[in-house]
Amino acid sequence: MAILILLLIVLLVHLHGGAHHREPRGITATRKACDLSQGNWVPDESYPLYNTSQCPFILKQFDCIRNGRPDKNYVKYRWQPKNCNLPRFNGEDLLRRLRGKSILFVGDSLSLNQWQSLTCMLHTAVPRAKYTSVRTGGLSTFTFPKYDVKVMLSRNAFLVDIASERIGRVLKLDSIGDGKRWKGNDILIFDSWHWWLHIGRKQPWDFIREGNHTYKDMDRLVAYEKGLKTWAKWVEDNVNPEKTRVFFQGVSPDHLNGEKWGETKARFCEGQMVPVSGSKHSHPAEIVLQKVLGSMSKRVNLLNITALSDMRKDGHPSLYGFGGKRSMDCSHWCLPGVPDTWNLLLYSALIQN
Ligand SMILES: *[C@@H]1O[C@H](CO)[C@@H](O)[C@H](O)[C@H]1NC(C)=O
Ligand SMILES: *[C@@H]1O[C@H](CO)[C@@H](O)[C@H](O)[C@H]1NC(C)=O
Ligand SMILES: *[C@@H]1O[C@H](CO)[C@@H](O)[C@H](O)[C@H]1NC(C)=O
Repeated sequence: MAILILLLIVLLVHLHGGAHHREPRGITATRKACDLSQGNWVPDESYPLYNTSQCPFILKQFDCIRNGRPDKNYVKYRWQPKNCNLPRFNGEDLLRRLRGKSILFVGDSLSLNQWQSLTCMLHTAVPRAKYTSVRTGGLSTFTFPKYDVKVMLSRNAFLVDIASERIGRVLKLDSIGDGKRWKGNDILIFDSWHWWLHIGRKQPWDFIREGNHTYKDMDRLVAYEKGLKTWAKWVEDNVNPEKTRVFFQGVSPDHLNGEKWGETKARFCEGQMVPVSGSKHSHPAEIVLQKVLGSMSKRVNLLNITALSDMRKDGHPSLYGFGGKRSMDCSHWCLPGVPDTWNLLLYSALIQN
């Protein structure tokens, strides 16, 4: 009998201890193993996270509903990671955490898209707090004076330089002149890809230079990798990880070609009203980006947005963006919309440390 009781006690202690052990290990395990980039878009009636009528500074090109987009279900999807949840966005909490700090987005109009989303999310959280929004040259500065927080955007499509020379405009793959502006910020969020593809009149350079060699053109993925390596070297040489966290917005996919989602007759992304259920592609530029980030000794946090955004063929302005019905925008994203989720990934990373 005594032995039986003893056995029972041992068993209980074991179970109890086991349970105690399991919990913290479970939490660390989820944190580590939980890949926020894998999951599904699920309908959520509580979405969107804001209404652009409460976001007076939103640019017309992203305000699809005001531009006449008739369907509205696309604002009602929430990203549900497979093995965990994204934290609920708490703008006031974020502003408090960021007190005295500056965030700088550096990149092309997809950076603009994410910056606008973040400013709308924050303003909606504290609608009565004063804000200022100023644009000088390529730099937009949004501030919340009460919280002493700056959210800035520096337009810079290639990250490396374009110089005007006698021969024409030269894209210099190994030169970064804009770095002065990047220094001293607390959070840097870079992006670059789409402009590397432009040809013809949209291509803003005439030659590419690397070292002492000047080329008329080169494979654009190769050029992208060289440019990124120069950017990576800038980060290695100039970023103090004690002060500054560095993020890179992953490649944002476009939906110009219905064949990619098995709808050969689609006219670009026009009339798309629901997401696709999965993303099978790995984007070639994303592979280059991952390779460069992976080779760095300083930690850069990739906002892994490519696959989740790839499912949102319904998320673009299409006829309800920039130029209205005369143009078709299947590259940027309506707001509220997909970039809000990019900012949830950012928020999730920021509140974990
Ligand atoms: C980004 O997410 C995709 C989809 O889940 C995944 O295949 C890829 O490995 C991720 N990249 C990194 C660097 O984690
Ligand atoms: C946004 O707010 C306006 C005005 O308050 C309202 O009419 C509209 O239905 C709202 N839109 C959404 C998508 O909630
Ligand atoms: C470029 O050319 C100059 C002069 O010919 C030489 O001194 C320099 O080392 C070269 N630079 C590179 C990166 O090859």
